[in-house]
Amino acid sequence: MATATIIDGKRFAARLRADIAAQVARLRADYDLIPGLAVVLVGENPASQIYVRNKGLQAREAGMNSFEHRLPATATQAELLTRIAELNQDPAVDGILVQLPLPKQIDPEAVIEAIAVAKDVDGFHPLNAGLLAVGGTAMIPCTPLGCLMLLKDRIGDLAGQRAVVLGRSNIVGKPMAALLLREHCTVTIAHSRTRDLADECRRADILVAAVGKAQLVKGDWLKPGVTVIDVGINRIPTPDGKGRLVGDVEFDSAVEVAGAITPVPGGVGPMTIACLLLNTFTAACRQRGIPVPEVRPAAE
Ligand code: GUN
Repeated sequence: MATATIIDGKRFAARLRADIAAQVARLRADYDLIPGLAVVLVGENPASQIYVRNKGLQAREAGMNSFEHRLPATATQAELLTRIAELNQDPAVDGILVQLPLPKQIDPEAVIEAIAVAKDVDGFHPLNAGLLAVGGTAMIPCTPLGCLMLLKDRIGDLAGQRAVVLGRSNIVGKPMAALLLREHCTVTIAHSRTRDLADECRRADILVAAVGKAQLVKGDWLKPGVTVIDVGINRIPTPDGKGRLVGDVEFDSAVEVAGAITPVPGGVGPMTIACLLLNTFTAACRQRGIPVPEVRPAAE
């Protein structure tokens, strides 16, 4: 049986971070500029705390400034909006990320819309979503951007490829579809109401799975040779009680059919933070009218 190439997102992300660090050092030398990332965490969600810590650590490792803002779980929407307004005005802050999910008294849409468009390194602001849709200069959401980099590294030119995106979230599915369309793919967005999901998947040369359902996509849903990008991170129970992380794709059956596949963990996950750093670097350049150099992973 054929076995797919495993796409090593962890290694690719490390190379990308190394190149970002080199570009940050150049920015500092040429313009006396250090990009700054502000990460805002409201409450004490354990997973969010880990994400926020990692974002800060990796920003500093890349030579950027990192500012962590913590608000209590009881913070009001007005308090959070005040903090965002301060960060919007702060010239040391080039990128602002408000960690989601937010406590229920706070409307995430109001918060996202309050972030300055130029500092919206998540790319979640509706203006950035619109710019991406019409082909303008947008901040591109980090996870889809990371997926696209892995795809281009594997395939090269994506023009004409049949791409199926499973999932229609604002964070992954919709921007992923917009990016693939921009690359001249023929794009299908499939979701929980799609009739015969397996048939739609079988048409794909590129399959991006981002539905949050553990091991939904089976090997026999795939066309031989397809490139599979698995965005899902789901914890499933194991006999020892510790649980195990799996994607939205059943890896063991998919690896027999696909041409290439991202593992979980170690596939898309590490690319998300690397792309957050890339967006912060890009935001710092754009806000000062500095030409944005092309950042590509350092050679191995
Ligand atoms: N929570 C989980 N993923 C993300 C993300 O990409 N950005 C933000 N802001 N919060 C998240």
